[in-house]
Amino acid sequence: MLQVENLGVNYGAITALHDVSLRVEKGAIVTLIGANGAGKTTTLRAVSGLQKARAGKVTYQGRDITNLPPHEIVKLGISHVPEGRMVFANLTVLENLKMGAYLQRDKAAIRREMEHVFAVFPRLKEREGQLAGTLSGGEQQMLAIGRALMSRPSFLMLDEPSLGIAPLLVKTIFEKIVQINREQGITILLVEQNANLALEISKFGYVMETGRITLSDEAKALKQNPQVRSAYLGG
Ligand SMILES: Nc1ncnc2c1ncn2[C@@H]1O[C@H](COP(=O)(O)OP(=O)(O)O)[C@@H](O)[C@H]1O
Ligand SMILES: [Mg+2]
Repeated sequence: MLQVENLGVNYGAITALHDVSLRVEKGAIVTLIGANGAGKTTTLRAVSGLQKARAGKVTYQGRDITNLPPHEIVKLGISHVPEGRMVFANLTVLENLKMGAYLQRDKAAIRREMEHVFAVFPRLKEREGQLAGTLSGGEQQMLAIGRALMSRPSFLMLDEPSLGIAPLLVKTIFEKIVQINREQGITILLVEQNANLALEISKFGYVMETGRITLSDEAKALKQNPQVRSAYLGG
């Protein structure tokens, strides 16, 4: 469904990504793991058109989307939940969700999508009038995912959904990710530092170090890999 080939990204004179290649099969959950600064966020941002690719190619459903503007990429069915959630703190839950459907003009369609989101996250329904800034970290993450779902994506990218969230809610968030994948048929590319949980729910995984993909394998095999175990799974 998504193919990244030999992607290169620079920040000024600094090369953040060198020759990154990866693919995500339709229907799968694929994880990209790696330490802080490895280039995971940059990879997602380049796929979304938020960061310019200096080299390489991004293909989505057979179509070259390299360096298309972000709204064109959203229109094609790719949605991105950014690192740090980035909800609008001074807007309500409902208003935040509506922002996710900014390309949709049809009010009935927006209501339908909202009901889908509430079916996955009943807690958001309970808090629809609450200001997003007053939600807990885990609830804000649910809202960020819900907002991304409002554009009816077929492909969802999640950047560190477990970061800074209470352990109990981390488990819930991962269950919701699986539910979104299974029940709504949405293909998922997940970026995580919580490699254990991420590999648990994934079919395939990539390991990234200093801007390069250094390992790739079935998630089961990566979990057994001694290098991965010592560097990312706590031994
Ligand atoms: N806006 C930026 N300007 C300059 N360098 C950046 C910027 N964003 C990220 N970098 C650098 O690019 C590299 C990859 O960062 P990032 O993609 O955020 O990694 P990760 O998400 O894996 O932690 C790091 O060395 C980081 O310092
Ligand atoms: Mg990051």
